[in-house]
Amino acid sequence: MAIADPSKRLEAMPPYMFAELERRVADKRASGIDVISLGIGDPDEPTYPHIVAAMREAVADPANQKYPSNRGRAEFREAFAGFYEERFGVEIDPESEVIPAIGAKECIYNLCFAFLDPGGVALASDPGYPVYTGGPILAGATPELLPLVPELGFAPDLSAVPAEAAAKARLIFLNYPNNPSGAVVPEGFFELVVSFAREHEILVVHDNAYSETTYDGYVAPSFLATPGAREVGVEVFSLSKGYNMTGWRCAAILGNAAAIQTYWRLKTNVDSGLFEAVQLAGAAALRGPRGSLERINETYARRRDLVVGALREIGVEVPAPKGTIYVWAPVPEGHTSTSFAELVLEEAAVIVSPGSMYGPSGEGFFRISLTTPDDRISEAVERMRKHLS
Ligand SMILES: Cc1ncc(COP(=O)(O)O)c(C=O)c1O
Repeated sequence: MAIADPSKRLEAMPPYMFAELERRVADKRASGIDVISLGIGDPDEPTYPHIVAAMREAVADPANQKYPSNRGRAEFREAFAGFYEERFGVEIDPESEVIPAIGAKECIYNLCFAFLDPGGVALASDPGYPVYTGGPILAGATPELLPLVPELGFAPDLSAVPAEAAAKARLIFLNYPNNPSGAVVPEGFFELVVSFAREHEILVVHDNAYSETTYDGYVAPSFLATPGAREVGVEVFSLSKGYNMTGWRCAAILGNAAAIQTYWRLKTNVDSGLFEAVQLAGAAALRGPRGSLERINETYARRRDLVVGALREIGVEVPAPKGTIYVWAPVPEGHTSTSFAELVLEEAAVIVSPGSMYGPSGEGFFRISLTTPDDRISEAVERMRKHLS
């Protein structure tokens, strides 16, 4: 054993997919090639001005510079309760049904350590955000993949979950609007989730990262608005994408009070809470005007149409997603996800994400992120048209 050898758990992890992408872009750029990355979903526009203003004020106040508590500031919890009531029609008790998280990624990872024992099982959407599988592996448990296929609207067939996995599972990770497929939740699906979770006593973790990023008049629901959801589940709401706040690490977990208490108990051993100035800025984001959000969604919708139009021209038939910041498209015949992504990189100097990076059911697809400025998206689309038609 060398001193820097990783643990067996870490060794079992696949390499972090964006690290691979970043390395490839860096290599190309170093050799003078103008690579346009449509890989990572990191909003290109700045955080909205009223949020930055609230942060400026909060960060200057010495009272906010101390260790926070993991329970969160009353202002933060109350802002979330107000937002959930107004936006989703969901009543949240600010005392017991919401606490801050240092981003959704932290929250999902730590939920694995709060609820999974070695040898345990978590049910994870496939394709899905990588921490749904990485979290369980690092916790010594096993992710049981739930394939999301276009024929079922990218919702898992819960009746197909093997009985043994359903019996052993403690958590199920779901996410709508969905990364990477762009799908919105099919009518009636959340109701099925509630009864499945009740039957098998599984805690539902609905990762609500994209509810504010929707198009064509579609308004995304909260899982917690489903009858019975609060008895079986929690929702992780991140401000990263909708509010252009990826760098701020601002999110919350809401819903089942006992589950939140267990997550809090784990967190008191692991981290020291979300910076209180960020909590106050997050509260300002949730209470603030929605004009900037609506404008950014118009921008994404415009880019989406550009991308979908160009893909259709090169023979890739793809539905225009109603939510998220991604277009999820099938690779042309004769390609795998990776071979097509390689082709686009080599021929057009454009990075797209191979669908297989999000799990085995992502094979045969690629993902384009809409978080690149309009002129660069247009240029990328033009190159793809020119080199791949
Ligand atoms: C589905 C999903 N959940 C969570 C996250 C990460 O959210 P946060 O920035 O709050 O950690 C992402 C980021 O891409 C995501 O796509």
